Amino acid sequence: MTTQVNEATQTANQETLLTPRFYTTDISALEKIDISPVQAEWDQMMSEFEGDNNVDHFVRDESFHEEVQPLDPHLEKEFVDFLISSVTSEYSGCVLYGKIAEQMENPEIRKLMEYMRRDEARHAGFINRTLKDFGVAVDLGFLKREKKETFFKPKYIYYATYLSEKIGYARYITIFRHLERNPEKRFHPIFRWFHRWCNDEFRHGEAFALIIRSQPELTRGYNRLWIRFFLLAVYATMYVRDHTRPEMFEAMGLDPTDYDFEVFRITTEISKQVFPITLATDAPHFRELLEKLRQAKVSMDAAKERGGIGSYFTRAGCALSMSVTFVRLYCHPVEKNELPEQVRLAASW
Ligand SMILES: [Fe+2]
Ligand SMILES: [Fe+2]
Repeated sequence: MTTQVNEATQTANQETLLTPRFYTTDISALEKIDISPVQAEWDQMMSEFEGDNNVDHFVRDESFHEEVQPLDPHLEKEFVDFLISSVTSEYSGCVLYGKIAEQMENPEIRKLMEYMRRDEARHAGFINRTLKDFGVAVDLGFLKREKKETFFKPKYIYYATYLSEKIGYARYITIFRHLERNPEKRFHPIFRWFHRWCNDEFRHGEAFALIIRSQPELTRGYNRLWIRFFLLAVYATMYVRDHTRPEMFEAMGLDPTDYDFEVFRITTEISKQVFPITLATDAPHFRELLEKLRQAKVSMDAAKERGGIGSYFTRAGCALSMSVTFVRLYCHPVEKNELPEQVRLAASW
């Protein structure tokens, strides 16, 4: 089946540690969400969704084509890889929110999911147009039919999706602000869209923040251990993945390590609206361990490339080292945070 689609679609369809996944959940359990404890903030957010201030945003302007320039082949490869990964995660949101909207009777949640599906469909479509310029658009219909789905219990969906929306915001805004200061480094016009784009992601994160805060048990007791796990998993994945695109960061004039820690700082600050703990990402030991984790992954990939029986043992050793390092990162002291009375935040970065 996969041989009938292009390479970009096959890449998007892959299941690896670092590629974005598609998710499914127990949708019937979402029927019980009662947002009345956060009703006022919810209503305000829903009127913003309804106002749809990005309705005219995902359209190319006249200078778009003039700004497109030929890229060095290595840069093009990494940039296309970045776009494939981005379109997969945008579309992953579109599919999940769409499926929930279709099956949901709870009117508040159904409406929310319809709005978010609308936004993610625009985001995925806009990226895919740029991939099409490179001759490698992803077949989204194929992904919807064929890509394997990972089942998460609803509360894991809330934690993971909240974080991926907020980290998505932090990633887009950090790139946008940097290129605003250094316009000569903007090697493709799509980056100009990131500002209004990331406000959508911020709002999606706000929706999950309110859903989580409407159920206080989700941030108490042993659930704190799950929050800690998801924070670490999302941060570590991003750190390892970004370092696989050195040319792209260099072209933007960014250092991937500096960029990632800035994104962590912003995400940590935002996540105080909902998580009672934050990771100490600026602690030197935490940073060392994260780098150790990344190097074990690099060695593992190099051994896989080499092949042979010797590589099998190297890979097993690296996998063990990654697990141990992940556990050590997990055990690194966290910072406690008192949840604010008012949940919602402004996208002020
Ligand atoms: Fe999006
Ligand atoms: Fe989103």
